[in-house]
Amino acid sequence: MKKLFSKIKSVKGELSFAGDKSISHRAIFFSSMSKGKSRIQNLSLSEDVKSTKKIFEQLGVKFSYHNSELIIEGKGKTGFNAPKNFLDCGNSGTTVRLLSGLLIAQNFSSTLIGDESLSKRPMQRVIEPLQLMCGKIESTNSNLPLTIFPGNKLKNIEYTLPVASAQVKSAVLIAGLHIQDDTKVIEKFITRDHTERMLELPIENRDNHKIILSSEKYYPEPKDYFIPGDVSSSAFFIVLTLLSENSVVLIRDVSLNPTRTGFIEILKHMNAKILIDNVRYSSNEPYGDILVKSSDLKNIVIENDIIPNIIDEIPILSVAGVFAEGSFEIRNCKELRYKESDRIKSICENLKMLGLEVQEYDDGFSIDGEIKNASATFNSFGDHRIAMAFSVLAMLVGNNSSVEGIECVSISNPKFFEQVESING
Ligand code: S3P
Repeated sequence: MKKLFSKIKSVKGELSFAGDKSISHRAIFFSSMSKGKSRIQNLSLSEDVKSTKKIFEQLGVKFSYHNSELIIEGKGKTGFNAPKNFLDCGNSGTTVRLLSGLLIAQNFSSTLIGDESLSKRPMQRVIEPLQLMCGKIESTNSNLPLTIFPGNKLKNIEYTLPVASAQVKSAVLIAGLHIQDDTKVIEKFITRDHTERMLELPIENRDNHKIILSSEKYYPEPKDYFIPGDVSSSAFFIVLTLLSENSVVLIRDVSLNPTRTGFIEILKHMNAKILIDNVRYSSNEPYGDILVKSSDLKNIVIENDIIPNIIDEIPILSVAGVFAEGSFEIRNCKELRYKESDRIKSICENLKMLGLEVQEYDDGFSIDGEIKNASATFNSFGDHRIAMAFSVLAMLVGNNSSVEGIECVSISNPKFFEQVESING
């Protein structure tokens, strides 16, 4: 589906977001794994989280709603049912990678599949450590389908992450919850830490590396969860507000986990008027309010070590970069090529539609020059974050600029356009 945009002049008002997608996946995992009743408030409405929930239903977990709360009857360590069909992870990398860590510890076989985009994404990154743990896991060409067999007793490992990936880290830590001896995951670059926060895993910091321990001692118990608003969904509205004239938007109760708010730090260095207030904690996760006002932005140098923190926000940061003084450059982000689309290519191809000078590198891109075309037709490449980033750009350019393939926004935020309308004007 194609959507046309007229220019948004100003945005004003308040927004709040459904629960963070990454935290929601984990809350479903750990409540399904624990034996007994858990409750989740403010679960993500995303298609990705629905994929996770549906798979746990196939494994025998019972879900019900009480008012707006999700009630989960967890199955405990040995209580999951063997699935009768393939387990379909849809578009969700987090679902497939975290599940592989759980399923290698079960006494039944299972096969994980996904949509066209997920089926192209690399799975060797989870296969390798799980095989080192003696898990029986197979794939053709390191892509989906992944087939997992019951068998060997799992063995603990000490694993230095070869890629900065919270999904791989979490898969190993989840497998480690089924082993008596300590499994250690060593991170050279800090990635999102929701798994270790939620399970309250011990952390050591040594020689600039972070070491996370997991073992059966930390197997989850039933709990009540409140999921703070999705900070990655808020990023599109933060940039839209900064770049619109006479605009002020207050975003309430949004996750402020420091492994996710790197884009806010970068925008503040770019001269953005962003204020954070009312910080509180729930399930070991910080959250609070963000006040954003129109700002004149300046491009800055983006350092390597912040890349894993901002990995999902690079598409929308590049839109901020187009309107900021000076040229925008980002490097050392080759991981973007393995997301829901090849995001380096998706961003570069779309930006060229406006007549900007765009240079694509193997590990990043740069943007220079002025917008030359009055309007443009962008493509979502079936990728929700590309669809939302370029919808924001289309709203700023107007003149019936359009985005083709817009329906994929529901992968992370089905309310995206409703929320835009609620602050327009
Ligand atoms: C996620 C981790 C990141 C991120 C993805 C969600 C998670 O992926 O891009 O949107 O929930 O753990 P990687 O761990 O593969 O970098």
